Amino acid sequence: MTDAENSRIGILGCGLMGRGIAEVAATSGFGVTVREVSSEALETGLAALRASMDRSVKRGKLEPEAAEAAFARIGGTTDLADLKGCDLVIEAIVENLDAKVSAFVALDGLLDRSAILATNTSSLTVTQLAAATARPDRFIGMHFFNPVPAMKLVEIVGTLMVSDETMTRARTFAEAIGKEPIVCRDNSGFIVNRLLVPYLLDCVRAHENGVGSLEDIDAGMRLGCGHPMGPFALLDFIGLDTILSIGHIMFEEYRETRFAPPPLLKQMVQAGRLGRKSGQGFYNYG
Ligand SMILES: NC(=O)c1ccc[n+]([C@@H]2O[C@H](COP(=O)([O-])OP(=O)(O)OC[C@H]3O[C@@H](n4cnc5c(N)ncnc54)[C@H](O)[C@@H]3O)[C@@H](O)[C@H]2O)c1
Repeated sequence: MTDAENSRIGILGCGLMGRGIAEVAATSGFGVTVREVSSEALETGLAALRASMDRSVKRGKLEPEAAEAAFARIGGTTDLADLKGCDLVIEAIVENLDAKVSAFVALDGLLDRSAILATNTSSLTVTQLAAATARPDRFIGMHFFNPVPAMKLVEIVGTLMVSDETMTRARTFAEAIGKEPIVCRDNSGFIVNRLLVPYLLDCVRAHENGVGSLEDIDAGMRLGCGHPMGPFALLDFIGLDTILSIGHIMFEEYRETRFAPPPLLKQMVQAGRLGRKSGQGFYNYG
């Protein structure tokens, strides 16, 4: 799986995260098959992936020939069966337990016994997904960060059931695609979201309570704490629907109010203001 030329990586979902993972795997020399639910979603995802590679070429980070070769290594499909033969499949679909379980059950029945299944979930426990398959020793959490091409970190999440060999193979793959893995024990939110999500939800509560405008809270955290991005810009970047699902799942797990999604966040999602991906979130993206 570390030998790029002889390994094939499957990616489930060509949304924000799936296409980012596909891009870094392909630019690192791996053959990639990306599966989406519809040809429209696949086309949109692959067009965004291509645009991201073109931006890297414009910025001088990627040679035009390398971008062409990487794009040619990516195959898109709507048929799950096309993932057969992959050595590792990374799931990056909606943050919903039922959707992920049914996807993993189907993949488990399809892939070779030696293949590894990985989830990019932000807040579900890896254990409950692994337990739904007949290969919990070859099931792992690989949590990437957005935007995947730019963010170095991958959280490698082990369960009580995972084998040492799977942990090593996942770590080595992360390094082979230029990422810096950290290891953490399975718990909702892993390391980063367990600390980040309550902070983001608290910022929404502060704004809801009239503490400050969006712009002032964002400027406060950028200029006062040295954060590269204010919380509302970050919320819009992540996607408000994704953060809402994460908050619900983490609250369900810990029963601590700091994980409870505030009413304003729910209303934003009900209003279809999902952040950058829908053109409007806390800010307007024209
Ligand atoms: N957005 C982030 O910043 C971020 C960061 C780290 C992890 N994550 C996690 O990554 C996962 C994906 O998040 P996202 O932001 O890319 O979401 P997204 O909404 O941008 O993309 C999800 C994609 O999955 C597709 N999909 C749904 N069911 C599918 C199936 N059965 N097979 C194939 N494709 C399917 C959808 O059509 C959609 O295109 C979630 O679990 C999320 O929690 C998100």
